[in-house]
Amino acid sequence: MKKALKIGALALAAAFVVLQFFQIDRTNPPVNAVEMLEAAVEVPPDIKIILGRSCNDCHSNTTIYPWYASVQPSAWYVKDHIDDGRRHLNFSVFNTYPLAKKQKKLSEMCEQVRSAEMPLPSYLWIHGDAKMQPGEAEAVCDWTNAAIAALANAPAAE
Ligand code: HEC
Repeated sequence: MKKALKIGALALAAAFVVLQFFQIDRTNPPVNAVEMLEAAVEVPPDIKIILGRSCNDCHSNTTIYPWYASVQPSAWYVKDHIDDGRRHLNFSVFNTYPLAKKQKKLSEMCEQVRSAEMPLPSYLWIHGDAKMQPGEAEAVCDWTNAAIAALANAPAAE
């Protein structure tokens, strides 16, 4: 019995070591200033701080990879969230979205923070500082509402 446990533990340790050979691609795609969120709508400093702190790692091409993105199997989990997050909403290419999509994404941002679905709860286990503070969800919603209206009133730029 004792021997079986030892062999089991060794096998697990070996599997963990082998897994480390599978690293994720941690290079960020390039960023072009004219494609960014800031090029599409005005982003006041307080909102920029919230988005940068709580959303940027999964919703932009300027991800700062945490240490556990270098360790398997958690790196795959991280990579999955970043790929999926960028696919749904990417601040770095926001200005390439058609008008209707821009407005829809802004309105979803408000919904997601108001319902506390974003930032993803699992992200907050380690990034405690990314937690939304009282009043911040409302600040984001005030901003998204204003930005949606500004986009609607802007002379067609596309
Ligand atoms: C740890 C990664 C992560 C963080 C941090 C994060 N998101 Fe997300 N977000 C995702 C993923 C993954 C999805 C797609 C799957 C889903 O909807 O759960 C997503 C989806 C979204 C969507 C699209 C919903 C839809 O229906 O298409 C919006 C809007 C969004 N996030 C806003 C935010 C905002 C705003 C923040 C910051 C306050 C934030 N997210 C922080 C990972 C993240």
